[in-house]
Parts: sequence; C-alpha cells; structure tokens
Amino acid sequence: MRLAGRTALVTGGGSGIGRAIAIRFAQEGADVVVAAHHCNAAAEQTAQAVRAAGRRAFIVAADVRDVAQLTRLMDEGIAAAGAIDLLVNDAGVEVRAPFLDATEADYDLVLETNLKGPYFLAQAFARHRRAVGAGGRIINISSVHEDLCFPHFTSYCVSKGGLRMLTRNLAIELAPLGITVNNIAPGAIGTAINRSLQANPREMADLLDNIPLRRLGTPEDVAGLAAFLASADGDYITGASLLIDGGLLWAYAEQ
Ligand code: BGC
Repeated sequence: MRLAGRTALVTGGGSGIGRAIAIRFAQEGADVVVAAHHCNAAAEQTAQAVRAAGRRAFIVAADVRDVAQLTRLMDEGIAAAGAIDLLVNDAGVEVRAPFLDATEADYDLVLETNLKGPYFLAQAFARHRRAVGAGGRIINISSVHEDLCFPHFTSYCVSKGGLRMLTRNLAIELAPLGITVNNIAPGAIGTAINRSLQANPREMADLLDNIPLRRLGTPEDVAGLAAFLASADGDYITGASLLIDGGLLWAYAEQ
C-alpha cells in the first residue's frame, strides 16, 4: 500500500486512463475524488470500484474548460475528502482535422480541455497545498505527441507540447512548496480516444508496425506508472515527462 493516507483528485475519472488510475490509487490505499464531465453511470462505476477496494470515493462533476468550475471542483473535492494531495490531470480530447479545414471550435475544445484545464486546476491545487502548508504531487497525462508530430491532429500536438512546458515551469515554480510536477507521456493506449482506429484493422496493423513491443498499451500500464510517481519512490522526480509507449516514439527501422 504505497499511497495509504493520501487523497487524489483525478479528472477524466469516468473512463479509460483516468478510471484505471483512480482504481489503482485506491488499491494502493488512497481515497479518490472522481472528477468527470457529468455525474453519470461511468463516473459511478469508477467510484464503486474505488469503494470495492476499501477506500472512500466522491464524484464531482465539472467541465474542465471553465475556470469557475475548476475552482468549484477543487473546493467541493476538499470539502468532501478533507484535503487533496495528489492531482491527476487526465481529462483530454483529440479532434482529427487536416490543418486547412480545422475550425476555431475544434481548436478551442482541444486547447481548453487539454491545456487550460490542467493549468488552472494545478493553480487551484497549489493554492490549496500552500494554504495547508504541505506539499503534493501533480501528474499530467500528456502524450508522445508532446514531442512527436501527428499530422491532422495539430491542435492535439499543440496542447500536449504546451502541457510539457507547463510541467517544466511548474516544477520549478512549485518546488518551494514541496509540490512535484510530472507528465506521463503515453503512446497508443486502448481507450475510447482511439476507438475508431481500433475498429479499423488496416489502421491498427499500420500502428502496430510502429510499436516495437507490438501491442497497444492498457490503461492499467499507465496507472502503474502514475502510482509510482505518486508514491515515495517518486519523491525526487520533478519536471519530467515519462514515456510509456512500447517503444513507439523512438522506433526507426529500415528493412
Ligand atoms: C493519441 C492516440 C494515438 C497515440 C499514438 C495518443 O496520444 O490519443 O490517438 O493513437 O497517441 O499515436
């Protein structure tokens, strides 16, 4: 039990990587505030899994694109759980669009969800940790695309590249408060975000050709790394982007 006595707030907690992290953290002894866009059956399922692991679970609904809602999310999470010392910014979206066709609405959806949300939720979290006079952990779920080009997903790459710099800056600025800030940079993980790709055997075969370990990652793979970063083993890690991609980012071969 590496996270006994800790309390995490996980955005995107209703599905995919966020849900797996919430459950893994509970198995490691943490209570969890499940933050989800809507207080729906999916969020409830995550909460039930946390409770089944013997920990307390609370659901708070918020749209991470709205700063007022983020402030309320943090306040309600603290009121329910007592305090929050682990923040996982997982909520994220991607929109496929050739650059020449991309719209302002696509851009705003992706940038506000993937970058503005983590920025202001980290701010609310850091203010809370300063107020209670203790440190904490911020873990952002980024992507290999914080470095790697992804044609037709330019807004997504811009958001993840921004998240990388957010992490590096905050690592320095929040270190005096005892708060570490890191990115996890997954490659292709089998979640709803790439459901259409997974349904297309030819696209899947092309993707697997680019992954040396020859499989998609699982949300549980990512959750294990998040638990490590959140635990005492991660004490001296800050400002890092940790790849978890089966070798995808640096794969290069000639036949
Ligand atoms: C994206 C997926 C993509 C994967 C590997 C992830 O960040 O969300 O759509 O398949 O990176 O390229």
